[in-house]
Amino acid sequence: MSKHYDLLNKWISNPNLQKHCFAVESCMSYYARLLNLSEKEIEDWGTAGLLHDLDWEKYPDEHPNKIPDILREYYISEEIIDAILGHAYPERTNTPRNTLMAKYLFACDELSGFIVAYALMKPNKLLDVDGEGVKKKLKDKAFARGVNRDDIYKALEEIGLDIVEHTENLIKAMHEDKRLGLS
Ligand SMILES: [Fe+2]
Ligand SMILES: [Fe+2]
Repeated sequence: MSKHYDLLNKWISNPNLQKHCFAVESCMSYYARLLNLSEKEIEDWGTAGLLHDLDWEKYPDEHPNKIPDILREYYISEEIIDAILGHAYPERTNTPRNTLMAKYLFACDELSGFIVAYALMKPNKLLDVDGEGVKKKLKDKAFARGVNRDDIYKALEEIGLDIVEHTENLIKAMHEDKRLGLS
């Protein structure tokens, strides 16, 4: 688990946005573990997830371009910063996703948001959601319109997983995270 909760609290006051950051943190460390990465990398992947939307509340139009200066003050690595820049529209940050960390961050961000939105409609939240259900629900254009489907499918290509498998992994990761209140 990351040690950067002070930073999160300083920059983000909206509890739902904080929860989104916790969710992406958990999804990222889950994958780092699944990929058998080192303890240090598991920590770094979690940090990238936790801090990826740090400037969103205060600088929505510049997000995430304010993040590098904030994180450098805390000696957070350039790999984490590049991964965070890589989750945004390329025309805004001009940072390709070259590392696995960057590709997975992009893949966890939008889809975890969609899964949460879907789970919140269900009586037993995440317990009522599975990969096949999410795959189907993604085709319902009227639902969670803010979630960019193209980004979700592009991200799946980048990490080489199918939607059902990736969704099931994210559900497991979020299910274990009691901060989210979704199970
Ligand atoms: Fe973002
Ligand atoms: Fe995000």
